[in-house]
Amino acid sequence: MRRTIDWADGAIVIIDQTALPGEYRLLHLRTVGELIDAVKRLAVRGAPALGAAGALGVALAAHTSEDVRAEAALIATARPTAVNLAWGVERALRKLGQGPAAVLAEALALLTEDEELNKTASKHAAEIVLEECPRRPLRLLSHCNAGRLATVGWGSALGVVWHLHERGLVEEVLVDETRPLLQGARLTAWELAQAKVPYRVQPDGAAAAAMARGLVDCVLVGVDRIAANGDVANKIGTYGLAIAAKHHGVPFVVVAPSSTVDTTLADGAGIAIEERDARELTHYAGTPITPSETQVFNPAFDVPPPPPHELVTAVVTEHGRFEP
Ligand code: MRU
Repeated sequence: MRRTIDWADGAIVIIDQTALPGEYRLLHLRTVGELIDAVKRLAVRGAPALGAAGALGVALAAHTSEDVRAEAALIATARPTAVNLAWGVERALRKLGQGPAAVLAEALALLTEDEELNKTASKHAAEIVLEECPRRPLRLLSHCNAGRLATVGWGSALGVVWHLHERGLVEEVLVDETRPLLQGARLTAWELAQAKVPYRVQPDGAAAAAMARGLVDCVLVGVDRIAANGDVANKIGTYGLAIAAKHHGVPFVVVAPSSTVDTTLADGAGIAIEERDARELTHYAGTPITPSETQVFNPAFDVPPPPPHELVTAVVTEHGRFEP
């Protein structure tokens, strides 16, 4: 299976996530402008994949631009919430003095690491899920897409599903459709279908009802930024899911590579939350669905409020349980 994002012949190559599941197509991004547009449109998305985009973007700039640092600043701020994007940019920039080939080598090393670290983080998380959840086989609930497509390869929260499925321990995954951009219905469902893991898509609003009916053994989500105290920012709806899980005694496990940890922030209050275009809510497939004067509130992420241990059972990286 090819990487979600890679480098070939002087271009960044991505799987176009706006086209899935209808069409599997690759985009070759040859300018920094094209990369930034792809990041903003969510053609490449998911925190770890954005880290790779940041590093490869600097490599692209180093090969094509006179002012690499100015281009790098634009890439780093293309989306605000996932810390991985700026982290990837900064990591690649550190090699700038050694020339474009060194920058590219560093970016490619980051890509390889991302695959390995997600595999390790999700393996640790799988063991925690097995400790926390006595039922076999497991019924897992997923929100947004934290799979191969959200990383360079393998996946974080969905990586846990791959590990458990390999051992025959997954009964089904309930997939939140993830309004408004449907990363669950379009992308997570596509990945689960490819891997032949049983799944059902549900409206986001059905998650609490599924827990009330006893259909969920564990909630598994990825994360866009982890503050030093363990607060997490993830796809909008994560907070509500965490409350529902706490209410129903369902473990809530968050999985990420350590590139998602931001030790410069004491807690989640300092995490910038991206507000996205009103049209994501006022229109459906290009057709208006609200009165023309409608105002919207469209935050792309939320932060279950502190103290984190009250709602989140475990935040897991490649080092195991994250210690605030
Ligand atoms: O807006 P998106 O699709 O980039 O949001 C992605 C998420 O919220 C993911 O859950 C998160 O990045 C973790 S991905 C391993």
